[in-house]
Amino acid sequence: MSHHEFDDEIHNTSNNEHFQEVLSRNLQNPQRRAVLRGGVGLSMLGALPLLSACNSDSNAATPSTTVSTLAAASALGFTTVAKSLADDVTLPPGYTYTVLHATGDRLNFTVPAYTNLGTETDDWSQRVGDHHDGMEIFYIDAGGRPTSTDTGRALLVMNHESSADAHFFHPRGQTSGGANGKKFSQFSGWDLGVRPELEALKEINHHGVSIVEIVRGAGGAWTLNLASSFNRRVNGQSLMRIAGPAAHIADIRKLMVTKFDTTGVTSRGTLNNCGHGYTPWGTYLACEENWNAYFAMPKQTAGNTLENASGKLATSRSRYGLPVNLTAPAATTSGTQGWHTVSDTDDRFARFDIAPRVGANADGRDDFRNEPNTFGYVVEIDPTNPASIPAKRVALGRFAHEAAVVGIPVAGRPLAFYMGCDSQNEYIYKFVSAANWDPADFGRGMTAGDKYLNEGKLYVAKFTDDGKGQWIELTFTNPLISGYTTYNFANQADVLVNARHAADAVGATKMDRPEWGAVNPVNGEVYFTMTNNSSRNTTNNNAANPRAYNDTDGRMRSGNPNGHIIRFRETSNLSTATSFDWDIFLFGAEADAGANINLSGLTDNNDFSSPDGLWFSKVTGICWIQTDDGAYTDVTNCMLLAAVPGKVGDGSRITVNNNLNGTTDTQDTFIGAALGEPKLRRFLVGPKGCEITGITESMDGKTLFVNVQHPGENTPAIGAAANFTFESQWPGVSSVNYGPAGRPRSATIVIRRTDGGIIGA
Ligand code: FEO
Ligand code: CA
Ligand code: CA
Ligand code: CA
Repeated sequence: MSHHEFDDEIHNTSNNEHFQEVLSRNLQNPQRRAVLRGGVGLSMLGALPLLSACNSDSNAATPSTTVSTLAAASALGFTTVAKSLADDVTLPPGYTYTVLHATGDRLNFTVPAYTNLGTETDDWSQRVGDHHDGMEIFYIDAGGRPTSTDTGRALLVMNHESSADAHFFHPRGQTSGGANGKKFSQFSGWDLGVRPELEALKEINHHGVSIVEIVRGAGGAWTLNLASSFNRRVNGQSLMRIAGPAAHIADIRKLMVTKFDTTGVTSRGTLNNCGHGYTPWGTYLACEENWNAYFAMPKQTAGNTLENASGKLATSRSRYGLPVNLTAPAATTSGTQGWHTVSDTDDRFARFDIAPRVGANADGRDDFRNEPNTFGYVVEIDPTNPASIPAKRVALGRFAHEAAVVGIPVAGRPLAFYMGCDSQNEYIYKFVSAANWDPADFGRGMTAGDKYLNEGKLYVAKFTDDGKGQWIELTFTNPLISGYTTYNFANQADVLVNARHAADAVGATKMDRPEWGAVNPVNGEVYFTMTNNSSRNTTNNNAANPRAYNDTDGRMRSGNPNGHIIRFRETSNLSTATSFDWDIFLFGAEADAGANINLSGLTDNNDFSSPDGLWFSKVTGICWIQTDDGAYTDVTNCMLLAAVPGKVGDGSRITVNNNLNGTTDTQDTFIGAALGEPKLRRFLVGPKGCEITGITESMDGKTLFVNVQHPGENTPAIGAAANFTFESQWPGVSSVNYGPAGRPRSATIVIRRTDGGIIGA
């Protein structure tokens, strides 16, 4: 995402270091030591049911098969790509790419082809959204049902994150109060006036998720099937079902009551879908990240009050970056799109005004004070069932959700989903299902989702300086939560919906902006990118977030400007473990930075900054790292790197000597084995102003799908069409010539080897 707008915000003012740690959790005593297995079923999620072949009774941990190319991943098989500022995608020799689809492309023949001039008169609900992000491939059979067989037919599902670049979709930028030439971040004051309905509709609808059918043609090339009945959008207006634990769903619905649904059973739309996840039963998980930024609270009538009887609304909102001041016309610190200014009769736009109304019922039925409670979730979508209603899985907590990645499923064992909350000094969470995994649930869609994603335990991570960590359950029965004085929790529903407060209460470890997680398919270890953190310093750092320094050249930033990748192994490899071992896999850095910054010994062949997207190939075992950077972009555009993973504990203990603005400290931490250039290489560099995000592969490992988000991000506010090409024109550039030339567009690219071989091997 365009992190310069949102993610640098801090809404965590808790002082966790000072909380007594009263939870001393014994390691759970597993009834049996189920060991996560690699090898079997590594060729895409469709194959995961093969794990049913594993005997879940198990000290017998040996994988029954191994993927041959995993061994080959001890070294990477391509030539490293140099850093680049070109407005193009650069790949190693022997690799080529095509564009699958780009922002605004039609999903079927009912709407005209995209003009790239902002002149569309339809509402974009039949077009590919903007800001391509997290992405997954789901194979289907001839009948359109999920399959684990390589049929050459699949649904490609992806998130469309933000409207930070919505100025590209109107003839002359965003309009407000009759003035045009505006760009998102300028709408910090709606006193500018009313926004046009069609512009707001396009902007709301290009958020969410797109589902398209892709087919492999002669020669192995995957292309879009525009005639497919599966092509559709789930967007910022789609009907959603609020789902959660049976014992708490009534309390959850009370928090969701709005004028739209006074029962709190349903809500409208999903927004700011960033990282993603998939489930072993074949559904897609969209994750709602910076959803807070869309809500406004214009100056209200005298006599209005924000507080409900218990005075909690403002406290809840503050922790999520939502507006709390009724008398000053400020939205969030980021500004909004001004959608709430459009007049309507069904509150499609009015719902973004979250001020309680004078004289309204305190339960929320007369206004949209609770609308923000309906965002901030993992949203489950069944790609193969267009009639299904997506579910907001409240049991997985409400925060700025990045990816939700499932651990290796083991038949007969609970499933674990790992999740980051991406803002500065936020946390890593885990949800463990109450139900044990049954491979027979593959293909059972939302019914299976209701089985695994409603009942379970939500945990938050605490990393300690000895290389260990604990999962602390977020439950109202914990006296640290029920007795928390900053926020007066009422019940478990309140804990789930205000999970950030609950995590504060139990003293979770504040991280350097947790972005994507990924699970190593070979050994089940969990990796998380900590993209960067400008508020990290020499007094608030810790072993898991150890660096605090100044970047002294080019785009000078400070704190932890280049980010790192942390990883952990659950005790006994159990999804239900309440403890883990961790180390730091990689530290981002500029190659010429000092040794106390460039701790992983990066060179010009593999140096990078701000890791964001993270993903493991199930064919090669390669760990793919994507960047969304603003610190090193004076030297290179954002990139995709390949790494050979190794394992937790394969490195050593080191001491980091920090110096930030003249303040110094030392931090002992644990670092993975140094990755020489043969084991960490730059594979791709993107066009100007983009981030690289979203990645998946074909079942045979011969095609890699990669998303290029927001090329031309630094295009200034514009008043004339000519300036839209200020920074980038990709993918309408000569090397690819995709679509109408001119304005830059987010896109999915399809990467293949000219010799038809496996990517990266
Ligand atoms: Fe949308 Fe945290 O990246
Ligand atoms: Ca991201
Ligand atoms: Ca970005
Ligand atoms: Ca620099």
